[in-house]
Amino acid sequence: QKHIVSIADLSRSELELIVSTASKLKASPQVELLKNKVVASCFFEASTRTRLSFETAVQRLGGSVIGFDDGGNTSLGKKGETLADSVQVISSYSDAFFMRHPQEGAARLASEFSSVPVINGGDGSNQHPTQTLLDLFSIYETQGSLEGLKVAFVGDLKYGRTVHSLTQALSLFDCEFYFIAPPALAMPDYLIEELKEKQIRFSIHQSIETVVNELDVLYMTRVQRERFDETEYQHIKSSFVLNASMLGRVKSNLKVLHPLPRIDEIDSDVDETPYAYYFQQAQNGVYARQALLALVLTNQYGV
Ligand code: CP
Repeated sequence: QKHIVSIADLSRSELELIVSTASKLKASPQVELLKNKVVASCFFEASTRTRLSFETAVQRLGGSVIGFDDGGNTSLGKKGETLADSVQVISSYSDAFFMRHPQEGAARLASEFSSVPVINGGDGSNQHPTQTLLDLFSIYETQGSLEGLKVAFVGDLKYGRTVHSLTQALSLFDCEFYFIAPPALAMPDYLIEELKEKQIRFSIHQSIETVVNELDVLYMTRVQRERFDETEYQHIKSSFVLNASMLGRVKSNLKVLHPLPRIDEIDSDVDETPYAYYFQQAQNGVYARQALLALVLTNQYGV
């Protein structure tokens, strides 16, 4: 069975298959694909988009969902049960185990005790592979290719698990990266070393304006309040803010993406421009997660 704990668990051809399947499912819904399948959706950390789009994905494919969105009220949270025991029990009720957890490595641990495929919906600041699938799908939809794009990442690149997963995936497609972050929120060293080893082109910048006209994709992120003390957060939170006046001379194919939620890093005047794609991107979470479930739970690749 196939666990999706890190984006590295998927090969380039599997990523391409998921993107093309998501496209097909968006155009032509398959209401019976997960008939009689029960999927566990277990959230030990807050979520709006990941949980609701995943549960929508399952239900629209004819499957059903069990689980919780407040891990603190479970036996694990209230009675001291270990994650390993909880996973063994819940996986025995279900065909797949989708989870989010605040600790890095929690999904990997769960995969060691689960009798069904584990899908990581975000583990601390580590990985968010299903977000990457919808990001790739959104990029493919708007650019017509994943190959050879110029992609900037802005904001909290240190704790931003969506950035960590997406740079690893786009590294398979000869993309060039621009990293824009306050020094305290720079990309982690281990990921920079990985990019160097793979000879991926990247550069580090201190402003959006200096590079924005070269880009195909501008991937904004929020500073993650929950990972800072309040004084530090207030000092750092509005480091990079995108507004419509900065988009006056950009390439016509530019798309601004954001995993959401946004705080103040994208001014609402950007929403009215043809470059904003973050709400469509969030909706694409349903199709990308459906495509992943098709890959993990059925043999109907390329439905
Ligand atoms: N993008 C994302 O992971 O959003 P949620 O935290 O709302 O799931």
